[in-house]
Amino acid sequence: MDRRTFITLTGAVAMTAPLMAREAFSSPVSGTGSAPVDDPRYKELLAAAHKAKKNAYSKYSNFQVGAAILAKDGATITGCNVENASYGLTMCAERTAIFKAVSMGYKPGDFTAIAIAASADNFSPCGACRQVINEFGNEMTVIFEFGGKVVITPLAELLPYTFKL
Ligand code: THU
Repeated sequence: MDRRTFITLTGAVAMTAPLMAREAFSSPVSGTGSAPVDDPRYKELLAAAHKAKKNAYSKYSNFQVGAAILAKDGATITGCNVENASYGLTMCAERTAIFKAVSMGYKPGDFTAIAIAASADNFSPCGACRQVINEFGNEMTVIFEFGGKVVITPLAELLPYTFKL
């Protein structure tokens, strides 16, 4: 007999759908919870991520990624992916940006948002980077482009049930 209990995350589903369906920065969607989709700084942040993407060192995958973090003090800290001949040593753009910011003195809770841009139409941050971003701000807004849309979502939507110590 199957004793597993199945639960439906209705709240999460209802929240994710309208965020995904929005045209790129065209009109803010109401009722989207903690992510203010119409924040004009997000457009600039995504532009900074695209700029950072140009610095990607990605000779093995030829896949370029740039990330830009908006700190609460107004600063923007960027990063790109950095690959290595020993593939597993590769560092993603998001983690490059986070580690750079931390090495500059920023602490958990100091960040508002992170935008990520990649050389592909469908991109979303990898699981490892979601976990690393989570370490420094579960309430952060994450911005990326997927299927011709700009997705603006709280990290908590991308990484529910986070691992914590
Ligand atoms: N990459 C990132 O920079 N961020 C992600 O979230 C996923 C993947 C990079 C790592 C590698 O250099 C290339 O994309 C292909 O996996």
